[in-house]
Amino acid sequence: MHSEEYSHRGIWSSKIAFIFAAAGSAIGPGNIWRFPMMVGNNGGAVFVIVYVLVVVLIGLPVMIAELSLGRHSQRNPVGTFERIKPRTPWKLNGYLGVLTSLFILSYISVIAGWAVGYFIKVITGTFTGEVTSQFTEKVFIEFTSNQFQVFLFFMLTIGITVYIVSKGIQGGIEKWVKALMPFLLVLLVFLAIYAISLPGAAKGLAFYLNPDFSKLKGSVVVYALGQAFFSLSLGMGIMITLGSYIRKSENLISLAGWVCFSDTFIAILAGFIIFPTLSAIPGTSPSTGPGLVFQVLPLIFSKIPGGLIFGSLFFILLFIAAVTSTISLLEVPVSFAIDELKWSRTKAVWLSGSLAFLLGAPSALSSGGMTLFTKIDFMGTIDFFFGNLTLAISALVTCIFIVYVWKLKNAIKEIESGIKRFNLRFLWIFSITILAPAAILIILYFIKTITGFSSFN
Ligand code: PHE
Repeated sequence: MHSEEYSHRGIWSSKIAFIFAAAGSAIGPGNIWRFPMMVGNNGGAVFVIVYVLVVVLIGLPVMIAELSLGRHSQRNPVGTFERIKPRTPWKLNGYLGVLTSLFILSYISVIAGWAVGYFIKVITGTFTGEVTSQFTEKVFIEFTSNQFQVFLFFMLTIGITVYIVSKGIQGGIEKWVKALMPFLLVLLVFLAIYAISLPGAAKGLAFYLNPDFSKLKGSVVVYALGQAFFSLSLGMGIMITLGSYIRKSENLISLAGWVCFSDTFIAILAGFIIFPTLSAIPGTSPSTGPGLVFQVLPLIFSKIPGGLIFGSLFFILLFIAAVTSTISLLEVPVSFAIDELKWSRTKAVWLSGSLAFLLGAPSALSSGGMTLFTKIDFMGTIDFFFGNLTLAISALVTCIFIVYVWKLKNAIKEIESGIKRFNLRFLWIFSITILAPAAILIILYFIKTITGFSSFN
């Protein structure tokens, strides 16, 4: 029966294929743009330390939990809850995941589109000559209010995503992510080496690596938690979906470990690009906030030697990272439609892609969080609900479901199917039962202070 299901739904050809796809999902604007911003706003090195602890103690266990659910059910998020506890409202949590994925897909595609626009700006010489911060701000506002351009690049992103996902698990997602991820890594390492070698880099490095524990506050922990969930693509059914294509013989713990490690590695690498560069340019500040990538970096690219190459590489990279995330986001509604509605992959991809397109249009047209189209900050609102709120709620419900409905012993059986001994089983149980739910409740309590993409302008 399983082999039939595999052939109908698709399966990862190897362990590496899964790691690439899941790491591709996790690695995105959250690592390259959002993580450095969080570090900059939350005390530098001390945030980095708290973040790493949160990933290990909470992010990793929750990822193992989501993967085990998916592999057990071999279904999309809705089918997963339905299969384990049929005809109960638990499947609503699956629907929440499908919905969250569609919405996050819609606005991440807008941001990916901005990266394309900025790539073109850099290579066509917009940021050469005398460039001031007023100038880059003006360019940013003009660019994001040029609805035609933003819309075009947004369409391009959705189009590329639809194309890749329509090719299926082995032919599409696997192949493309495998090709794109190593390129991303090489570019980042290159840029980091370049940045560290800039004169004046040492101050930025000290800010990034030398912890000042007097800056350790409750808010640092809350931001670190929110960032970890967002960055690891947890709480929206992605890891359940990707887990459903994993063979029973694979070791889920090592798979999740690799994904968490590479996601964190790339985020930390991004910091090695941003902070040395910032300190190399007098007058810039690490706590510039959301405008960091789009307004401050072009300023830097215009001043340093080789800035044109440095700058264009950076924006290609941001685009690649975003697309490897949009692929996994689209796969959630697609797997739902294939499993539950019995649609063909082609139909599922085209209809889900069109839906994401329609949902993203207001974000694209609301000119980067400003109010031209809808008179509300559409993108900010979507991010608040779907980038923070539903994500945390869904992860919490998933933990409760595993502990009280599916039961820990079944989850452990699933996890142990690919390994000899689950050595850290008690740590995992502690995290899923107590640590992660408590942490998520804290996020929900402080949700208003977690901004995410919400203030993009
Ligand atoms: N995890 C991705 C990042 O770090 C973004 C993302 C969020 C992808 C939610 C999927 C779901 O940028």
